[in-house]
Amino acid sequence: MDWMKETNEQLRHGAFLMVEGNPMTIGWGQFGIIWNKQTFSVYVRHSRYTHELLDHASSFTVSVPKPGTMKDALVFCGTKSGRDIDKMAALNASIFPARFGGQGGFSGCRYHIECRILLRTDLDEHLLEDDALISRYYQDGDTHTMLIGEILGVSEEAE
Ligand SMILES: Cc1cc2nc3c(=O)[nH]c(=O)nc-3n(C[C@H](O)[C@H](O)[C@H](O)COP(=O)(O)O)c2cc1C
Repeated sequence: MDWMKETNEQLRHGAFLMVEGNPMTIGWGQFGIIWNKQTFSVYVRHSRYTHELLDHASSFTVSVPKPGTMKDALVFCGTKSGRDIDKMAALNASIFPARFGGQGGFSGCRYHIECRILLRTDLDEHLLEDDALISRYYQDGDTHTMLIGEILGVSEEAE
């Protein structure tokens, strides 16, 4: 289960959430078991173009860079929107083909975690029991949607 450990560590630096060929950098995400399925959950603010793409998607893929790599691409995909620019073309990057029925990944990453969406739900900031989190994360009302994805399969890209 190296991929789980590495993904947890890499999330602090960023991974790519891939939907319809648009890479968005994510720092939040978690593994878990629910409904007896191995899942990975992501959290996407309403303002993101990715949020729009997810409205019409039944899956997503999380592409996880090798430690210490792809730093510029993570910054780029975490500051530019697919609404304004084709990020993959701008980075001269290619799609790693899906193998388990999910979305294509970001080529050059170490792992591609393909997920089928099981549940999407808007996080209600008023239910947060720590006021400090509300003022830190939701002052502008741009809340997160949580998407729980069943892990369909994980590809490891050759070095
Ligand atoms: C390190 C890092 C982590 C991020 N994590 C998230 C996240 O977990 N959820 C989210 O909604 N936005 C996150 N963002 C912000 C989005 O990546 C950013 O707004 C991006 O430009 C959205 O792209 P899109 O409009 O093409 O979807 C993160 C940005 C960075 C730099």
